[in-house]
Formats: sequence, structure tokens, C-alpha cells
Amino acid sequence: MTDRLTPILTDSWDVPRAWTLPVYRDRGGYRALAKARGMSTEDLVNAVKGSGLRGRGGAGFPTGLKWSFLPAPDGGPRYLVVNADESEPGTCKDVPLMMANPHVLVEGVAITSHAIGCDHAFIYLRGEVVHVYRRLLAAVREAKEAGLLGSLEITVHAGAGAYICGEETALLDSLEGRRGQPRLKPPFPAVAGLYARPTVVNNVESIASVPGIVLGGGEWFSGMGTAKSTGHGIFSLSGHVTRPGQYEAPLGITLRELLELAGGIREGHELKFWTPGGSSTPILTAEHLDVPLDFEGVAGAGSMLGTRALQIFDETVSVVRAVARWIDFYKHESCGKCTPCREGTFWLQQIMHRLVAGKGTAEDIETLSDAAGNILGRSFCALGDAAATPIQSGLQYFREEFEAGTHTPADELFPPRASLIVPAASQEVPA
Ligand SMILES: Cc1cc2nc3c(=O)[nH]c(=O)nc-3n(C[C@H](O)[C@H](O)[C@H](O)COP(=O)(O)O)c2cc1C
Ligand code: SF4
Repeated sequence: MTDRLTPILTDSWDVPRAWTLPVYRDRGGYRALAKARGMSTEDLVNAVKGSGLRGRGGAGFPTGLKWSFLPAPDGGPRYLVVNADESEPGTCKDVPLMMANPHVLVEGVAITSHAIGCDHAFIYLRGEVVHVYRRLLAAVREAKEAGLLGSLEITVHAGAGAYICGEETALLDSLEGRRGQPRLKPPFPAVAGLYARPTVVNNVESIASVPGIVLGGGEWFSGMGTAKSTGHGIFSLSGHVTRPGQYEAPLGITLRELLELAGGIREGHELKFWTPGGSSTPILTAEHLDVPLDFEGVAGAGSMLGTRALQIFDETVSVVRAVARWIDFYKHESCGKCTPCREGTFWLQQIMHRLVAGKGTAEDIETLSDAAGNILGRSFCALGDAAATPIQSGLQYFREEFEAGTHTPADELFPPRASLIVPAASQEVPA
């Protein structure tokens, strides 16, 4: 079964001091950059296009195509911005990747910068992960001092920690020193991005996949995965699984296969619901165990592949409580720029809290559904949609649990202690 794994970005994670330049180079690091320097920018863009690599930040936009949208050079600056904000509940692949193997990202940044004609690249990191910030700074310094980066400047920027700053245009505003709020598109960043100059914004895992493609070739990469969702991806399993963790596998693997690798649902329990790609992706259930985890397969099942953040919940978990927790997050992270999301998440939160307490009213379920329907597709950016989807999919599969919230507290129906992964005794505060 482990032959289903494709450890490429994660291969060195258990190697001592894998994050240092000597170890990275011993394992073949920076050979791809040397090869890329001998290639024309056009050939590089075509290689990435040919690999079929699609953005690993959630939306799955073809990476090489995005690079090719940049207008022809006009002598002015062009930027690469790596999105390392990783703040979605459940999503936890970029932070360990940068922690264990920062040089693969730095090498990817150098290759991509060469491909798009950029002299100054940025890595916009979620500010709370100070340990990753230090490690990235050290990796950039090591690469610079070893003369690997040439004249390329790489700035590692620590954001202040806001989910909305992962949205690419809010990220650019934040990087420019403004409050992080999404910009109206068009113009897209490729045309007017950072400082209104042509800019490529890509996810950490997307850029870290580039050195492998340059060395191995597009066909090697597209030999993994499925026809329209090629390559390897990091699947992050969390929650009620025996061995939670990062499983790097070809796109198209199923949850059933991943659960086998992870030792199954924790002993004595069964799968109730799960997210395929973080809290913004509609929940699925045990009937979806064999859905291919690629962009098309998950969309066909009514959800989204997102960031492959597989949060696994067993039968002890209250859907109402889980959804309420996610709504608290979205309400807190709403940037307030548009009315459906700013006001709507407030409404959703009020109703969800009533349902958790078993104090919902007869109208609450309809109002909840109506409010979610009015946020979805009417918000300025996808954060609003993200808040609506757990509600809608929760109602789709577990409506009776929401209805029970009109008379019985969720904690009575699903005592929270039963869901604890760590034995209950160790959760108690010592006297
Ligand atoms: C609210 C919100 C948060 C986002 N957070 C992230 C993030 O943390 N990291 C990321 O790569 N993309 C995030 N995205 C997606 C980015 O806007 C963008 O699509 C992505 O960085 C493009 O990179 P890719 O094409 O390599 O996937 C977020 C989008 C939204 C709407
Ligand atoms: S959807 Fe939410 S996060 Fe996005 S612009 Fe509107 S208020 Fe801000």
C-alpha cells in the first residue's frame, strides 16, 4: 500500500538537518536551478505548462498558464510573490514543508524568478510561525552567501496573522503596507499586482514543485496523478485517524486508501464526516470514501479539493458544534469590506450558537439556510463562500442534527469528551 505514496517534497523530512544547505545539496539540491539557468524563459514556462501542474493553494489554476499571462517585459520590475499565509482551519502542509525543507522553496523561487524575469521575489509568511520565519531567513541567507541566487533578492515578509491575507490581492495590499483587504479584479495581479506591476502569486507547494519538474521533466510529473490533475500533492490527515500526518501521494488517491495508510479511523469508531480540503470545502461523508481526490473527482462529489486538508470526524462529533466552530472563525476573519460576508457571518454565528445551546427557534433553520444562500456567490471574495459552505453541506447531510438544536443542546447529544483524541485524564488541569 505504501507504494501509493510519492515522497518527493517530503522525502527528506526525517533526514538530520534537512533544512541546511549542505544536506540539501548533498541530496541533489540546486541542480534544477543550474539546469534552469541554461534554459530560455520560454522553455521553462512551457515545461511547467506541459507538466500540468495546477496551483496547490486551493483553486487549482494551471501554474504555467498563470506565468504566461504576464505581459511582455517593458524594462520595469516584475515580481514573484509566494503565498505562505496558510491559515485555513485544517490546512497544515506549507508550514511543515518550509520548516523541514526550506531550500526546495528557495530553489523554486529562484527558478520561477528566472522564468518570469523577476529580480525581486517575496515570500509572504503567516507571522505567527516565527520558527519558520527564522528558518526561511537562514535558508535565503545560506543560498545568497553560496552565490546561488545571483542578483535575485528574496524578501521573507512576516504578516500579522490574518486569514484574509491569504487571498492573493489582500496579501498584496498587506505587503504594500496597507490593511489586508481584497482588491477588485480585474486587473489581475499578472497585469497590475505588487506596486501595480506584473506579479505572479503562487502557493508554497506550487513553487516547491517546480525544481522537481525542471529536473524530472513534465512527463515525469504528469505520469503521476490523473489526466487533468497531474503530479504529487501533500495530503494532511488530522482528527480521528490512528496516524494523523502528512501523506504525499499522487492526486486521485482516495480517502479509503489514505485511511489505510494512516491506520484507519481510531479504534472502535467509524467515519462520520470529513473535509476534503479544509473548512472552506463542503463536508463529505462515508459514502464518499472512494471519490478520487483530484480536482474533478471532488468537484463531482459536490465539494472541492482545496488544500487537501482532510479533517476526519468520527461518530462522536456533533456536526452542529463543528460547523459552529468554523463559523466563529469566519466571522472573526471576515475583513468587513462587503455586506453579505460582514453581516451574514454575524447572523450565521448568532443562529449557530443558539442551535449548539439547544435554544434554536422554529424559524432558525430556514433563516440559516437563507442567509448562507445569500452569502454564497454574492460576496466580494471567496471568504464569504467559505463561511456558507459548511452550513449548506451540514444541512444537506445532517439536517436532523440542526433541527435537534431547537430543543436539545449539542453537548447532550454528543458529549465532547467522547471526541477527545488525547485520553481525557491528561486534559484535566492539575489541582
Ligand atoms: C480567504 C482566502 C484565503 C486564502 N489563503 C491562501 C493561503 O493561505 N495560501 C495560498 O496559497 N492560497 C490562499 N488562497 C488562494 C489565493 O488567493 C491564490 O489563489 C493562491 O495563492 C494562488 O496560488 P496557486 O495558484 O499556486 O494555488 C486564499 C484564498 C482566499 C479567498
Ligand atoms: S467576502 Fe468577507 S473577507 Fe471577502 S471582501 Fe467580503 S467581507 Fe471581506
